[in-house]
Amino acid sequence: MSPSSIFSGLMKLRRSWLRCKNYRFFSVEGISDYSLRAPHQNFRIALNGRCRARVVNNLGLYDLIKPFVASHLKVFRNFATREKPTITLPPIVTDNPDSIIPSLVDNHIPIEIPPHRIDKPVTIIAGASRGLGFEFTRQILAKHLEGPVFAACRNPDGADNLSSLKGQYPSRLKIRKLDVTDESSVKVVAKEIYESYGRLDLYINTVGILHIPDVLSPERKIDQFEEDQAMLAFKVNAVGPAIVAKHMIPLLKFGQGEGTSRGGAVLAHLSAKVGSIDDNKLGGWYSYRASKAALNQLTRTMGVECLRLKLPIITVLLHPGTVDTDLSKPFSRNVSPDHLFTPTASVAKLLNVIDGLKPEDSAKFFNYDKLELPW
Ligand SMILES: NC(=O)c1ccc[n+]([C@@H]2O[C@H](COP(=O)([O-])OP(=O)(O)OC[C@H]3O[C@@H](n4cnc5c(N)ncnc54)[C@H](OP(=O)(O)O)[C@@H]3O)[C@@H](O)[C@H]2O)c1
Repeated sequence: MSPSSIFSGLMKLRRSWLRCKNYRFFSVEGISDYSLRAPHQNFRIALNGRCRARVVNNLGLYDLIKPFVASHLKVFRNFATREKPTITLPPIVTDNPDSIIPSLVDNHIPIEIPPHRIDKPVTIIAGASRGLGFEFTRQILAKHLEGPVFAACRNPDGADNLSSLKGQYPSRLKIRKLDVTDESSVKVVAKEIYESYGRLDLYINTVGILHIPDVLSPERKIDQFEEDQAMLAFKVNAVGPAIVAKHMIPLLKFGQGEGTSRGGAVLAHLSAKVGSIDDNKLGGWYSYRASKAALNQLTRTMGVECLRLKLPIITVLLHPGTVDTDLSKPFSRNVSPDHLFTPTASVAKLLNVIDGLKPEDSAKFFNYDKLELPW
């Protein structure tokens, strides 16, 4: 046997070994039985409408994800250096209706496709029954012309505002039950969004309590501080929103800023300037202030995690100004009219901020005019 035929035989062996090795990286999970077992199978895949590639082997997939990685996630180097990053790709749509979810198992790079992904943006507003939450729902339906809008509230049957709005947007407006202190209610809504729409582009949490007659009143002095009231404020204002975020972030991974000038999917928590520790010159309102400071820290931490994992999600905290709602009514007597916003004016300003957010705004605390607030 000549040296050249030995060499070409060895090369053949090496190539087939490489093929097997490469195919070990692929596995197909979830919605289809389709598998990439056959070494010579080619797949035509449209990646979010932006590029087409044939997935022939590991290199093929590398080429496939490169344009997305380069333009969105900038984690190219992780893939190359074989660290163990988590890369979330946007949904991959196959020419074959029998979609596939390939996952680079050995590299711990999951590529996940929700079962049904619509091409219209999906929004959810928590605390939509009244005040700023209702106004967000109304303005988003009017301003963002496409896609379902979930109005989540504790008692959909009693949300008359939302029921009348439903008459105007019968198919787009989805009124759903969600109590931030009841994780099972959050899971039901998150599951519906995942299974029916496969994406979430904007999540706004407006839930918050400052006073509840006979239950909670903001303390003026430390001797009014009561454990059960403080715990309730923390539960609704800080822990609850973190629980909701836990279920929304996995959906926001598949969102974008379509139809707006946003640079990605957005998670926005309504906080309050009184939650700023730096800005606290007046004192009082112990539980409310501290629970909003906790919300700020929790949200900042989520933002840092999203950045670290290269998730294309912009997380922000927003102060709406002093707004004439049930929350502020008992305390707004001394606020001059030009400092007391209507919900319409406040939400218009906040939506302007939200719709212009860019990835570099993530993990920050903004005023309604986009001035960055101190922690
Ligand atoms: N208004 C202001 O001047 C002002 C200033 C700074 C910050 N903020 C913040 O802005 C946000 C919105 O305030 P707002 O003025 O619109 O208040 P609001 O009119 O009192 O509305 C509060 C909303 O929170 C909901 N909520 C309360 N507990 C809940 C729970 N456990 N699960 C789900 N929803 C719950 C309420 O639903 P129900 O109808 O079921 O009670 C209501 O929809 C709050 O986070 C607030 O802290 C407001």
